[in-house]
Amino acid sequence: MIQLADRVNRISPSMTFAISSQAKALRSQGVDVCDFSVGEPDFVTPAAIRDAAKDALDSGKTKYTATAGLPELRTQIAEKLQGENALPYQPDQVLVTAGGKQALFNTLLSLVNPGDEVLIPRPAWVTYPEIVNLIGATPIFLETDETTDFKVTAQQVEAATNARTHALILNTPVNPTGAVYSKAELQALAEVIVSHGIVVVADEIYEKLIYDDLEHVSIGSLGEDIFNLTVTCNGFSKAYAATGWRLGYAAGPVPIIKAATALQSHSTSGANTFAQYGALAALTGSEDPVTEMRGIFERRRDLVVASLREIPGLSCTIPCGAFYVFPNISAFHLDSMSFCARLLDEAHVATVPGIAFGADTNIRLSYATDAETLKEGLARLHSFTASL
Ligand SMILES: Cc1ncc(COP(=O)(O)O)c(C=O)c1O
Repeated sequence: MIQLADRVNRISPSMTFAISSQAKALRSQGVDVCDFSVGEPDFVTPAAIRDAAKDALDSGKTKYTATAGLPELRTQIAEKLQGENALPYQPDQVLVTAGGKQALFNTLLSLVNPGDEVLIPRPAWVTYPEIVNLIGATPIFLETDETTDFKVTAQQVEAATNARTHALILNTPVNPTGAVYSKAELQALAEVIVSHGIVVVADEIYEKLIYDDLEHVSIGSLGEDIFNLTVTCNGFSKAYAATGWRLGYAAGPVPIIKAATALQSHSTSGANTFAQYGALAALTGSEDPVTEMRGIFERRRDLVVASLREIPGLSCTIPCGAFYVFPNISAFHLDSMSFCARLLDEAHVATVPGIAFGADTNIRLSYATDAETLKEGLARLHSFTASL
């Protein structure tokens, strides 16, 4: 028998990918599935970005770039972070990666030692604890629920921090809850982080998908001390409907970015070259396609929340960002796995059990799908819950 390394025995496959594969398999058997499991925009990447990548390919931009990314892209990302996020990063503080996921991987691998503790507010995106487990460090979960709008407080961070605490992973807008942290909430968190000198890994990948005229605030923008303790991770997947391009970035203190670049030089060697030219066009071109997509997501969110609230027994906070809703199903006395399995089997609606994110009383629905599918799937969910 082949023996696998301990490190992979510490992790499990992404449950969100598993559910969407199951939904795809059912569909290929001819079953009409309403798939609310996916975490990717249903739009095609805007034409100007696709054209720039095609031009790059046609003009022979097919060789490696520098490991840390095209210099002009690093400059442009630094300018974006300065101008839009009030984060005074310089180009040498930016690493271009193969997706936001690799930005997080490279950052955490560069920072965290086995035995360290990493604070993770929960419900949390599936990948955070797995990266920490892979490193042999310990994820320390800070539990949140509907009563605090799924947001962690400064008091929780204070209470959980000890000599082994090395980092906090802070995601806003949050996958899976859609929660968005306000400036005041971030300021309170920043004070605790600075007082203990821990690093904050800020995952801002959903920053452009924010509703109700709320403003995205980057925690690193709240003063020099917190800036020097922050690594900001972001990417092109969600804002530019570019999940398949595999492009993201990390920006942070030079020693961390240097270490992460060295790591990258021995793993992927860098992000795809012609995709990076597309990213350059994304940052220098018109923001209209992003604004348009954001508007469509907001209308869908309103539709989904209104429909969910008509279902007796379901309760749902209003998500102010990303493209997920996270209704509470505890009134149905089923754990989230059983609820989602039966919903898929009996009503052909694919959703993700909240347990994947550490919340067994909830399920996650993604509204990154067209309005017709949303209406049909919500009607099925309504009938399904009535049958329980
Ligand atoms: C919270 C969060 N961070 C990061 C990512 C990584 O996205 P990508 O690797 O496609 O850039 C995702 C994708 O689902 C996500 O939900």
